[in-house]
Amino acid sequence: MYAPKALEKKITLPYLNKLKQQGEKFACLTAYDYSFARLMDKTGVEVVLVGDSLGMVIQGHETTLPVSVADVEYHGMAVSRGLDKSLLMIDMPFGSLNSQQQALDNASHMIKKTGAQVVKLEGGITQIKTVETLSKYKIPVCAHLGLQPQSVHKMGGYRVQGREHDSAIEMKDTALQIQEAGADLLLLECVPATLAAEITQLLQIPVIGIGAGSDCDGQILVLQDMLGITPGKPPSFSRNFMLEHGSIEAAISAYVTEVKNNNFPEASHCFS
Ligand code: KIV
Repeated sequence: MYAPKALEKKITLPYLNKLKQQGEKFACLTAYDYSFARLMDKTGVEVVLVGDSLGMVIQGHETTLPVSVADVEYHGMAVSRGLDKSLLMIDMPFGSLNSQQQALDNASHMIKKTGAQVVKLEGGITQIKTVETLSKYKIPVCAHLGLQPQSVHKMGGYRVQGREHDSAIEMKDTALQIQEAGADLLLLECVPATLAAEITQLLQIPVIGIGAGSDCDGQILVLQDMLGITPGKPPSFSRNFMLEHGSIEAAISAYVTEVKNNNFPEASHCFS
């Protein structure tokens, strides 16, 4: 059983690979500022993501689409100052990877500014070449499949992806191609738990889930969701850890413990 503790050493990609091989879960959260980053580092959150969800939870937009490279860099620099051991991942925002050259230029700039270890990018088969290019230039990549909020208008809303037989086959195939192209991590958002479990088993690289069942190697939540302060109805795959714990630090620490002991997510947080 995992008991709450600070991270002992700097989290690296090889370390996350080792956790996967050992069947040990890891905990990830989004952060957008220095103070929360400090708390996450202190409470053992292995991966901290400066997500483009900042467009919604920080800036109050309806979607993630208005977020710019400069926005991610601004929040990335603040978060970076708060992290000592956690791995920092940053999102490539909408419109920042319209060509391979643009993706390479933006990712390099963002890494130089923020000190992030990994960039995350949405996009399935259309981004394979981009993953290949970034990987060739030694930029670690986390690909993002399943529900991709940057495609909200194409999808016509936010819904679970991969429920139909053909789309499930396609997602598995794309995941394998993305790994082959050099991705270091894969994030699955709002995917049936059984499909996410299959993809996690199929891939050698660690798979992080959000609304993707308990069999992924790591779990991630948006900070505001797990603190219960997101305006409106909370996503069904999230849990309000503040309800049971008296402080933000205790809530984050409880989240880490629940993920690492495989008690979160529960069946009620999963899709079929
Ligand atoms: O932007 C973000 O916060 C994300 C999470 C949903 C994982 O991509």
